[in-house]
Amino acid sequence: MIEIKKVSKSFDEQPVLNGVELIIEDGSSHVIIGRSGCGKSVLLKHIVGLLKPDEGDIWVDNVSVVSMRRRELYKTRVKIGMLFQGSALFDSMNVEENISLGVREHRMFPHDEISDRVAAKLELVDLHGIQKKFPSELSGGMKKRVSLARALMMEPKYMLYDEPTTGLDPVMADAINDLIISVRDRLGVTSIVVTHDMASAYKVGDHISMLHEGLVNFSGTPDEIRKSKNRVVQNFITGNQVVVA
Ligand SMILES: Nc1ncnc2c1ncn2[C@@H]1O[C@H](COP(=O)(O)OP(=O)(O)OP(=O)(O)O)[C@@H](O)[C@H]1O
Ligand SMILES: [Mg+2]
Repeated sequence: MIEIKKVSKSFDEQPVLNGVELIIEDGSSHVIIGRSGCGKSVLLKHIVGLLKPDEGDIWVDNVSVVSMRRRELYKTRVKIGMLFQGSALFDSMNVEENISLGVREHRMFPHDEISDRVAAKLELVDLHGIQKKFPSELSGGMKKRVSLARALMMEPKYMLYDEPTTGLDPVMADAINDLIISVRDRLGVTSIVVTHDMASAYKVGDHISMLHEGLVNFSGTPDEIRKSKNRVVQNFITGNQVVVA
């Protein structure tokens, strides 16, 4: 379980998060929505320990990430895979090198198993035989899949997805949504998905939370959010993003 406890964070005295509270139950897929710039990526970076809160705490499996020592933090990070907003592949490395980089660094598997494991993960994301291709030869959707394969190599307990479908055509976006669901259901990976695409949110989320003005202003099931009377929530989910305070 991941618990976000009253997390606040400012940059240059500009508050971005202002007491965010959120619980991500094991086995669930939790979608976080909110307007551009509201702090969704910042929140994900706190969960993986890339940013430290000014106040509050983040607990992963009952241990505080904030007060962890480096070695512990390292161990916890391995449990959490992240698909970054850009796909964050290294242009100078081919697909196989990109996917195996993390497990080689962490020495997670014997050397001679790695290429079979890379092939298996590529299979899982519906890509075959592209090990020797370079990122510049791949489409946006393929890059996302390769990044997902790379994150899954570490066999994470949690996967964080930052805007996994942005910039993809509707068919590819839907294929990525299906993959997120299958990673949750087949591998039992708890998922946090940041998106501003409501079609994706409804499809992959069994829980949806909205971030607004530094706080979670709504948290509930897709059905509950559809029925919410909160005007800010309704404006957002019906596509009218002009929010009246
Ligand atoms: N490292 C940083 N230093 C300074 N300001 C930052 C930093 N990271 C994020 N911010 C600021 O925090 C705010 C929230 O950024 P964040 O990237 O979390 O938005 P977001 O909700 O993910 O938006 P989008 O939907 O466009 O991706 C923005 O105003 C951004 O400029
Ligand atoms: Mg973002």
